[in-house]
Amino acid sequence: MEPWECAIAYHNQTKHHFRGYARSLGYLDWATQPDPFRRFDGAPVLPLPRTDEDSSPPYSDIYALDRVAPKPVCLGTISEFFYLSLAISAWKEYEGSRWALRCNPSSGNLHPTEGYLVIGPVDGLSDTPSIYHYAPKEHALELRTCFSIEVWKQLVKGLPPRSFLVGLSSITWREAWKYGERAYRYCQQDMGHALAACSISGATLGWRVHLINPMSDVDVAKLLGLDRREQFHEREMEDPEALLAIIPSLSDRPPTLTLSAAAIEQVAAGEWQGRANRLSSSHVHWELIDAVAESCEKPATEIDDLGSYPVRGGIRSVAPTTTASARQIIRQRRSAVALDGRTAISRDQFYATLGRLLPCSNNVPWSIIGPPAKVHLGLFVHRVTGLEPGLYGLVRSPEQEEPLRSGMKPGFAWQRPPGCPASLPLYLLETGNCTTLAARVSCLQEIAGDGAFSLGMIAEFIEPLERYGAWFYRRLFWEAGAIGQVLYLEAEAAGIRSTGIGCYFDDPVHDVFGLRGPQYQSMYHFTMGGPVEDSRLTTLSAYGADRAACR
Ligand SMILES: Cc1cc2nc3c(=O)[nH]c(=O)nc-3n(C[C@H](O)[C@H](O)[C@H](O)COP(=O)(O)O)c2cc1C
Repeated sequence: MEPWECAIAYHNQTKHHFRGYARSLGYLDWATQPDPFRRFDGAPVLPLPRTDEDSSPPYSDIYALDRVAPKPVCLGTISEFFYLSLAISAWKEYEGSRWALRCNPSSGNLHPTEGYLVIGPVDGLSDTPSIYHYAPKEHALELRTCFSIEVWKQLVKGLPPRSFLVGLSSITWREAWKYGERAYRYCQQDMGHALAACSISGATLGWRVHLINPMSDVDVAKLLGLDRREQFHEREMEDPEALLAIIPSLSDRPPTLTLSAAAIEQVAAGEWQGRANRLSSSHVHWELIDAVAESCEKPATEIDDLGSYPVRGGIRSVAPTTTASARQIIRQRRSAVALDGRTAISRDQFYATLGRLLPCSNNVPWSIIGPPAKVHLGLFVHRVTGLEPGLYGLVRSPEQEEPLRSGMKPGFAWQRPPGCPASLPLYLLETGNCTTLAARVSCLQEIAGDGAFSLGMIAEFIEPLERYGAWFYRRLFWEAGAIGQVLYLEAEAAGIRSTGIGCYFDDPVHDVFGLRGPQYQSMYHFTMGGPVEDSRLTTLSAYGADRAACR
């Protein structure tokens, strides 16, 4: 079997069906619940400074790359970058148990994603180039290794001055503990959220964030010290995912983003400090996850740019929905635990929200994911004032309109909704109340029917896997996760709330839209509406002595 066929086999085997769910333990073994906080015992810790001062731009400014003047790279701005991407945003407490929430959401709040910083000398941080692990609970950096300035210069010689790197990895065990075989999907969706969170956080500082696409996973692991088997428990290794170039200037994206392989070897040969903490006392082993992870390992690829996004005007006719700052919106992001089944949003609000999801070459966060857009939306519209309830479709890349039209139900209307901006490729497919249907296909979760709208993210599936290889399976989830991250923030900006939905019945969703065969597959669901607060929970602030109750 070719690796891309293994990815497809994994996808098929981890579908939820009406007749049964993907394979998992079927119960939660609380005694082995993984620690959500990785630490490297023995590595020196550098606390990052925190400030309550909000100097971030208005939320609505961050999506255009040229609207925010770049801030200099210093200890304070590096701290702010993590504070608005991977940091803790609050603690919740109920009947003696306490759990942390972060700026990036996570399936089951299990947080498989870990972050790393690879950076040259910075005043107040280090005189020598270094690699750090980001510790969200402490909002601190753990020093893993240092290397010479010569090696640093060689490593980043293709990047604009003062650029630095952020790495992301996944600890699959954290998700597998609860979700069994389907966990690999959740890690990848979470990665998409984290990537978009980094892109958006960078944008608040005027920094451009790009995925270094040609790099192999082996090289990412080497550079971040993830291949140092002796420093991790064998079942708690971190899978290398992505390396990001953070460019703190208005300079254009370098035509080829890559790092020196020789410099990576030299960094890897250095002395590394710290040993990864144990997350669980014992583990359940899911061979299917090992198999899909091996198949989807990314090799070094020649092409940096996978293509180009269309140039679009965006949905400019709609005024910003909020005057709140980017920091405020990012740090207040939460998942709704229930939606009220009443709150409606306006048609213009709906169009503006969807408009944020259209990728073009210079907008955030799509510049990080890279073209071509492969994920489209099948929408369940419940409560949008001025729109008929029913099924709608958003086609995120123009060349997919014809294939989607011919791939979906022949009776669909493909009608432009009233007042829809010309630049928004949204279509009414079928009218009707679909609240029950939306909940039913989202694993019977009422939240999918109780919002203003919910949606399935329908990816082009076979063609990209055949074309790029199995590693692109992960990218489809990344794109879906990034769409989710933007929707989370848009909901906050509109004064409502949203929730990512990883639990859905795969093929029944395809049936709703009439999609037959594996050409298109739903990768993730999402819902948005008026939240119902759980008043039993106490909210505590994120950090330090100020973690007083603030109900
Ligand atoms: C990939 C993904 C899948 C999720 N799936 C569900 C789901 O099926 N049902 C649900 O109620 N919440 C779901 N959530 C929401 C998480 O439970 C939530 O993000 C987590 O508890 C952390 O809370 P926060 O988002 O408020 O920080 C999902 C979140 C993500 C990122």
